[in-house]
Amino acid sequence: MTAIIIGATSGIGRGLAESLAAEGWKIGVAGRREERLEELRKAFPEGQVVTQVIDVTSEDATAALDELLAKTGTPDLIIHASGVGKQNPALDEGIEMRTIETNCMGMVRIVAHAVNYAKSCGEYTNGRKLRIAVITSLAGVKGLGQSASYSASKRMQNTYLTALSQLARMEKIPVEFTDIMPGFVATDLLDLSNNYPMLMTTDYAVKHIMKGLKKGRRIILFDWRYKLLVFAWRLIPRALWERMTFVKTSKDAN
Ligand SMILES: NC(=O)c1ccc[n+]([C@@H]2O[C@H](COP(=O)([O-])OP(=O)(O)OC[C@H]3O[C@@H](n4cnc5c(N)ncnc54)[C@H](OP(=O)(O)O)[C@@H]3O)[C@@H](O)[C@H]2O)c1
Repeated sequence: MTAIIIGATSGIGRGLAESLAAEGWKIGVAGRREERLEELRKAFPEGQVVTQVIDVTSEDATAALDELLAKTGTPDLIIHASGVGKQNPALDEGIEMRTIETNCMGMVRIVAHAVNYAKSCGEYTNGRKLRIAVITSLAGVKGLGQSASYSASKRMQNTYLTALSQLARMEKIPVEFTDIMPGFVATDLLDLSNNYPMLMTTDYAVKHIMKGLKKGRRIILFDWRYKLLVFAWRLIPRALWERMTFVKTSKDAN
């Protein structure tokens, strides 16, 4: 089995890349930090891990993805783990725009290209399909005041996957989608000097995600505490949510 992981240089993407490789998958890993990609390559037997520098915000990203596809051969799974996220109550324009460029434009660039690849490459026959998994977030369920662009970008990702799932059925494109929606995971994305409720380790998150991927889940939402939280969030009317000014994701965010 073969997988490509974009955003494999740290955090959840790296954990997933290591787990898949440890299970014997051939993997192609991508991200901007070349030295991190090399570390991964060297940690596994020669030829098992191939690398490609990809910046998803660059227009060259799809050409770079094609280079990676040429190195891996036809993948069974593409995981899009690239993402940025910062609390930004001051609405710093640079942070807001970078979030949208990476999480929305970057994700669309990669995922749309992957769908078109599956459609045209001619290798997905006899029921074989490409699974495209995107790490979105619970943040997309409601708009979080301290992370406006981040939560909106995650909602956009959720909606994009729903729309593509419908399109794939309409057009009989040999792809399936998985929307991975973690709660707080202790990675470089978070400022760990803050307190995050129900914080999970990367290993714990990776274990749940691997389980969901193996079952071919459309949505991976874990664990039971977060399932309960999402259930409760969805019941809160918008007008009430907007008045819940005590909803903070860390004790000292400003
Ligand atoms: N940690 C959490 O609490 C949490 C919760 C829910 C969802 N998520 C989502 O999980 C995903 C992974 O985040 P993480 O928590 O594992 O954080 P992380 O350790 O910071 O990993 C982010 C990954 O995205 C890559 N990336 C960022 N900008 C990129 C770009 N322009 N082009 C290509 N790759 C880029 C980084 O690689 P390079 O810097 O090498 O490019 C890195 O590999 C993100 O989408 C995040 O929103 C995280």
